[in-house]
Amino acid sequence: MAYDSKHTEILAPEVWYNKTKDEYKKYWPHLNSFYSLDFNRFVPRVRNDYWVLDLWAGDWRMYEQLKKINPDGYVACDCAKELLKNHPWRVKKVVCDLEKSWPFDDQSFDLLSAFFLLEHIENIDHFFEEASRVLKDNWQLLIGHFLQRRLFTWAINGERFKIQQFPHTIEDLEEAAKMQWFRTWILPLRDVCDTKTITWHLLVCEK
Ligand SMILES: C[S@@+](CC[C@H](N)C(=O)[O-])C[C@H]1O[C@@H](n2cnc3c(N)ncnc32)[C@H](O)[C@@H]1O
Repeated sequence: MAYDSKHTEILAPEVWYNKTKDEYKKYWPHLNSFYSLDFNRFVPRVRNDYWVLDLWAGDWRMYEQLKKINPDGYVACDCAKELLKNHPWRVKKVVCDLEKSWPFDDQSFDLLSAFFLLEHIENIDHFFEEASRVLKDNWQLLIGHFLQRRLFTWAINGERFKIQQFPHTIEDLEEAAKMQWFRTWILPLRDVCDTKTITWHLLVCEK
């Protein structure tokens, strides 16, 4: 078991996120300060048979946003089985550890969504290799990434935990994406409640 300097326990993501299955929604307002982004206008959708892969999908927070682009198929994957179960029945759910080989065929998705998760991943080169493999040519990977200043403390029923994290910068991610021949754009995003402060970045990667 690991602890920080204030004796707060640091847990592996799988352990912690499974515990949050009924509580994760409490954090939606914080995470949804991102709502200013209208995916419907932002993401190209110009053909049939349009498949979305929501990586590290958590509960159905991202599905709420991405369903507006009306994909033909939506796959949500996560290591936390209990959290994943919260998605509606029409979403295909896959439990897997994405630090290992991804259980998806080559070139099988038009859009990969990866929001607020790369801080949990140690090997970002493996992430971009696998993303490039499963994405169809000319299509997009969208990454939402927090500006990390310190480990966020979660609290549920009086228990306080931190989650194991790796402090990748948005520039680290862009460099790793370019190594896999993605074309990249970084958009700084402001919190809707505090428009002066940049709190996350969107990294758009086109294969
Ligand atoms: C902060 S949540 C983000 C969830 C969702 N993308 C969102 O924006 O609301 C991070 C998610 O990553 C998942 N996760 C962390 N490490 C993982 C791994 N190695 N493989 C699969 N999922 C992982 C966690 O279970 C959790 O659901």
